[in-house]
Formats: sequence, C-alpha cells, structure tokens
Amino acid sequence: MNKQEKLQFPSGFLWGTATSSHQVEGNNTNNQWWRFEQKPGKIWHGDRSGLACDWWRHAEVDFDLMQTLGLSAHRLSVEWSRIEPTPGRFDHAAIDRYREMLDGLRRRGMTTMVTLHHFTNPLWLEDRGGWENPEVVTRFQHYVRFTVNALRDLCEMWVTINEPLVYVAQGWVRGIWPPEKVSPLGVLRVFRHMMQAHGVAYQTIHACAPDAQVGYAMPVRVFQPANPQRWLDRKAAGLKRYLAEHVWFMAAIDGKIRFPFGFDDYNHPLRESVDFVGINFYTRDLVRFRPDPRLLFGEEHFHPDGEFSDAGWRGVYSEYAPQALNQIVREVSVFGKPIYITENGLPDHDDDQRPRWLLGHLHQLHRSMQTGADVRGFFHWTFTDNFEWSEGWGLRFGLIELDPQTQARRPRRSAYLYRDIARDNAITAALTAHYAPELLPVLFPA
Ligand code: FCB
Repeated sequence: MNKQEKLQFPSGFLWGTATSSHQVEGNNTNNQWWRFEQKPGKIWHGDRSGLACDWWRHAEVDFDLMQTLGLSAHRLSVEWSRIEPTPGRFDHAAIDRYREMLDGLRRRGMTTMVTLHHFTNPLWLEDRGGWENPEVVTRFQHYVRFTVNALRDLCEMWVTINEPLVYVAQGWVRGIWPPEKVSPLGVLRVFRHMMQAHGVAYQTIHACAPDAQVGYAMPVRVFQPANPQRWLDRKAAGLKRYLAEHVWFMAAIDGKIRFPFGFDDYNHPLRESVDFVGINFYTRDLVRFRPDPRLLFGEEHFHPDGEFSDAGWRGVYSEYAPQALNQIVREVSVFGKPIYITENGLPDHDDDQRPRWLLGHLHQLHRSMQTGADVRGFFHWTFTDNFEWSEGWGLRFGLIELDPQTQARRPRRSAYLYRDIARDNAITAALTAHYAPELLPVLFPA
C-alpha cells in the first residue's frame, strides 16, 4: 500500500469514547438534574434519565463491548452527589464502585480519563446557591481532594470541569437548564467561580498525584460572522469566541481572567493550570447581530446550504463542518499544550451519516497533526445512546444503539468502522471505500 492510501496516526494515539455520570449511570436522584427532570415540560417528550444506561450497576456490559471493539481509552465522569451526598460526608461505597469501574476499564486494556464536574451538582450545593455562591470553590476543592486521593492509582488524566460555557449559557443566559435563570450578574459569578475552582483543582490534583495530567474540556465552536462585511456581525461573533475560548485559554496560561469591558481579575492558582487542552467539537455557527443580551448580542444559525444531523431542526449539534475542527486544533496549538479531542460525535439514530462524519472529522484532525498539532487522542461522543439532557432520549449519539426500556444493545455500523480505525491506528482507502466512498477523493486525492 503506498503512502497515499493510508492516513496513519502516531503510535500510542488513544482511540476512546466519552460519557458523563448523569447520562449513563441511572438513578442519580441526589442532583439538580434529577429534580429538574421531574418538572413537567422541561425535557423533550417528558423523558427522564431513569435507569439511563444502567452503568451504576452494570457498566461492565459496555466495558466488555469496548474491549471487543479494541478501544484503547474511555473518558467518564464521577458524580459529586454520589461521592459527597451531604456536605462533608464522603461515601466510601460510591468511591469503591468508581474504583471498580476504573479498574475494570484498565483490566480491559483501556487508559482512563476522569472528569470531576460534568454539569451536575449535589442538591445540597444547588440549594445553597450552587456555582453562584463563592463557597463553591472550597467545597469543590474538598471533593476533588477526596476523590483524587481515592482514585489516583487508577487514573492519570483528569478533566476538572466540562464545558463551563455551556453550563453558564444554558443555566443563566438562555435559562433552559437548572437553575433556569436569566442573569448577567449570575453569568459573571459562575464564570469566575468555575475558573477559580479549575485553578484550585489543578493545584490540588497535583498535590495528591504529582504525575497526573490535568486539563479542562472546552466546547469549541467556530463562530463566524453571518455577513463578514457587517461590523456588528463581526463584533457579535468575536464576543462569542472571546467568551467561549479566549477567556479560558488565556486565564489558564497567565492567570488573568479577562472579563469584557476591561474588568480583569488576577487569580494566581490559575497561572499555568493546564497540562493538556480538551476540545469538545460538534459544529460551527454563523452569528448575526441581535440587540438581545440573552443571545449575547448574536443569534446563531447554520449555513443555509449546510448538511445537518438529526438535531438540525432543534438548532443544536448540527452542521457538518469538519474543516472547522482542523482550524480550531491549529489555533489551540499556539498554546503549546498537548490536545485531546475530548468529545466529537453527532445524533444520528439510523447511522446513515455517522460513518462519513467520523471519517471526515478524523481526516481533518489528521491534517492538523500533519501541520504540527500535538493531538494525543480522540474520544467519540458517545459509546452507548444515553440521556441527552433537555433532549432526553430523543437524540442518539451512540456507536451502540440502546433501548432504554429493555437495556438491549446493538452495535451500529459505525462501531465497526471505529473498531477498524482503532485496530489499524489509521484510516485506509479500503475502509473509506467501504464506509463512505464519496469521501475517497477528499481523503485520498489522486
Ligand atoms: C456536550 C456535553 C455532553 C453531551 C454532548 C452531546 O456539550 O458535554 O454531555 O451532551 O454535548
């Protein structure tokens, strides 16, 4: 096979999947999302997380499948409300179960990555003001210290906080996730506390586990002005990129939190507080100026001629724009830190798009690596269909199809594609010809 017939990834590159506790474990009754789901009208079709993928009892069913597919890594999150069910009381049985899971992954040959906060809070924390209350920083630190001390022999890679921007935007800007507020002051408070908590967690994790690799997972979208000639569109897109990426990236490098309008804040634990950058990438957005602070002055929409996933009409996770992944990875490379794609995937229940989306994104990732980006692994979102927050069970992101009623699992075609990529540590022309022949001229130009 000549060079053009194979896109080879570096040896040791991690091929994994990603999940979060609330979306897969089931019966997470002690957090704010469970309470939110019980309110009528909050989740699409009135769905609830319920038993989810039943991981609290039987995660090993999926771990076995991962092993069968030859995956080399998994990213999961641990649930604060299980580990610290009431303030200051840590639950050793819960930690033992997480030890069992991480050990189970490692025994099946997988590298583990653990996220410490993925959208959910214990009810006791939420009821004291959650991330708006400054005490959250110390509370988070205590929980992180306990958890890392208990799990450090089973995990080397830690994500402190998943997608702070999505958490803030959904909860305080759009007000459609708990705590359902529209509050600019709340946005600033939560942002600030999450950044401080990240910095403190970084230090704490290193104090407990000096060799640990610590990062965060950023929801990176490419915000482009709808009309590049229009100054207001450019500014609105710029503000979103600034808040979504620059504030975080820069703060974790030099310790300075850059709020808009020059209200800067120096926070020493934040200086040099990433060992790697995690990128969650789904789509790009065009931004049109709107004089509405709830939209952060910009309405997001997709390209009129774009190709959309199952969620196109809901306006989330939508447009096929893999070149944007290449662009983002190259931009983030400037910070000189290793990069992991900590999430990438799409909702596609019949799997008619996923093979091509997967190949298209991995091709662009490979291109960014050819130009020097230090990408160490790719975590597909997600392994098994799971509870997709406000969209409930309506959006199916899994390589494995799940019937939540019966817990029956069925691998989609994409699962075998991903297996073959992981096995070869490469994308071959033969694989492309089999799964998405229309991409052959793009991936392997003559
Ligand atoms: C990300 C979340 C993850 C999942 C995917 C589809 O924003 O981190 O929990 O919902 O989107």
